[in-house]
Amino acid sequence: MNNFRKLLFTKKTPRARIIEFCEYSTEKKVAPVQPKQPVDPRRVFKVYRFGGVLSKEQPKLVSYDLDVSKCGRMVLDALIKIKDMDPTLVFRRSCREGICGSCAVNLQGNNCLACITAIPPDKVITIHPIPHMYVIRDLVVDMNHFFDVYDSIRPYLIRRNQGPLGRYQYAQSINDNSKLVGLYECVLCSCCATACPSYWWNGRRFMGPATLLHAYRWIIDSRDEDTEQRLYELRDDFKAFRCHTILNCTLACPKGLHPGLAIAKLKRLISGLDKKPPSEIDAMKFSGTGSKC
Ligand code: SF4
Ligand code: SF4
Ligand code: FES
Repeated sequence: MNNFRKLLFTKKTPRARIIEFCEYSTEKKVAPVQPKQPVDPRRVFKVYRFGGVLSKEQPKLVSYDLDVSKCGRMVLDALIKIKDMDPTLVFRRSCREGICGSCAVNLQGNNCLACITAIPPDKVITIHPIPHMYVIRDLVVDMNHFFDVYDSIRPYLIRRNQGPLGRYQYAQSINDNSKLVGLYECVLCSCCATACPSYWWNGRRFMGPATLLHAYRWIIDSRDEDTEQRLYELRDDFKAFRCHTILNCTLACPKGLHPGLAIAKLKRLISGLDKKPPSEIDAMKFSGTGSKC
């Protein structure tokens, strides 16, 4: 503060004082440069291994020493490197950019997509299959039930009034389309469902957050005309209402979506507290004018 007063009350011109003050403040703000600490790139990966139901061996964690400076930055890169060392390791992956949703694993106790999650700085890193799913082998789980339930909500556009299939686009206003933001990005990785306690305990009757997020996505779509039937099919004690809004699903979603919020909105629609807003424009607006896709 004394330095600041000295600057203000010297007999220098205002311009000189401003320049001096700026230099003084800049000088004060610059933090001393810390020398970078070298990070030890050696890690121990403890990976869940299981040979399948026909295997006589019990599941176990197998340790692999890996120098992570010799592979990419992501957990999937480390798994691929481990597979080079031990080709018997089995895991799913395809796109390597968080789009196909196939590389979901449980890393250090948290569900994630291995291809978009950086290798953590911990010395020991554990990788399990996503929880509460039947393990087929190693990190590969049985997704059949998950996709059967997803299929049951009829995850596609249903229209009563439609032009010849594949010939016309259905119009939607920008505002109506914005209601799908935060829903359509879901890649069905099941990180949310397998982090949900209600899905663990009632997975045969409670649909789980991913499927319910998609149910809401199709119900709220201004172009879809099957809203009443969709809502009718969800009117059940378990299908949606076993969600207790604890929001594990939202914390687990690697795409940053909010399935818990979508379910809360869906429950209001199912119970009749909210109504689906009417479409802002006629979806068949362009069908008669020859504006074809
Ligand atoms: S908010 Fe609902 S769907 Fe999400 S984790 Fe909790 S119970 Fe499961
Ligand atoms: S909502 Fe998120 S966590 Fe759940 S399936 Fe979709 S992308 Fe995966
Ligand atoms: S490999 Fe496709 S999401 Fe990870």
